[in-house]
Amino acid sequence: MGPQISFLRLPRPPRPWSAQTGWVRVPPEQSHEADPFVLPPSMCDLPPRDAERRLGLMIEYDRIREAPLSHLDYFTEWGGHTWTRMVRTGVADFLGGNLRDLRVLEIGARYGRLSCMFGLLGARVVGVDIHAHYIEAAREEACKLGVTSRVEFVLSGGDLCDLPSQSYDLVFSKSVLVLLPDLEKTLSEVDRLLGSGGRIVFIENGLGGWLAQFMRRMRHRGRWDYSRVNYFTPEHIRTVDAVFEIERLVRSHFPPIYLICGRKRGSGGVLR
Ligand SMILES: C[S@@+](CC[C@H](N)C(=O)[O-])C[C@H]1O[C@@H](n2cnc3c(N)ncnc32)[C@H](O)[C@@H]1O
Repeated sequence: MGPQISFLRLPRPPRPWSAQTGWVRVPPEQSHEADPFVLPPSMCDLPPRDAERRLGLMIEYDRIREAPLSHLDYFTEWGGHTWTRMVRTGVADFLGGNLRDLRVLEIGARYGRLSCMFGLLGARVVGVDIHAHYIEAAREEACKLGVTSRVEFVLSGGDLCDLPSQSYDLVFSKSVLVLLPDLEKTLSEVDRLLGSGGRIVFIENGLGGWLAQFMRRMRHRGRWDYSRVNYFTPEHIRTVDAVFEIERLVRSHFPPIYLICGRKRGSGGVLR
């Protein structure tokens, strides 16, 4: 085994949106239990509640509720500006920002913030995840943001086969498809779940060039099994394109991220 390199970890400063939302200091609470899925911190960093608690901060939910699209950093949770920009392009530009009564499925909702954001924008949302403790945390988030009547969280067995066909107008994922073992099977399930005119917004980690791969490995050395992650490449985009009509594709190089916006094929572009 090669030498282990360790880096000094410093607490992150509050994110830019803290200035808009206004932070209030509270005593730190007990930290969230360890993540059994061993998520790479590059994808998720700290669980948001941990990060906030560690900094002794609390969020002003009222302000976030009033203007969700002005607080995309909050809903994006982790990853920084480029991820937030991808969410903005997918939600505000591609979907148009007003999701009134759109039926949304989020795969891998985790702490539920994005599902709640869809609810705040008017959608009726189902967020699924394979871990019960995430479902619990996501429900807590829905309570805090006052969207429990529009947003529900459901424990999933890992595939989507329990969900009813043609029941959604939008299927959304962020940093989840890269974790699933069979992309083609997942896409065909997503196609089954979408109604006529249904759309997809996938924001997924790209493999990137050698520098991005090197930096990712250095940062997460010894903590993450890369063989379990199918980082997206142009080949994955072709796989998505074989099932859905891709209408907008955005790729950032650093960090490597793909935003894939599209529509169910043969649906004539009709959307409720
Ligand atoms: C990298 S995290 C991303 C979470 C969230 N989408 C975000 O961007 O913050 C991946 C999430 O997908 C969930 N997940 C993994 N496999 C899944 C599956 N087969 N079905 C549903 N969720 C899954 C994990 O439990 C985890 O919450």
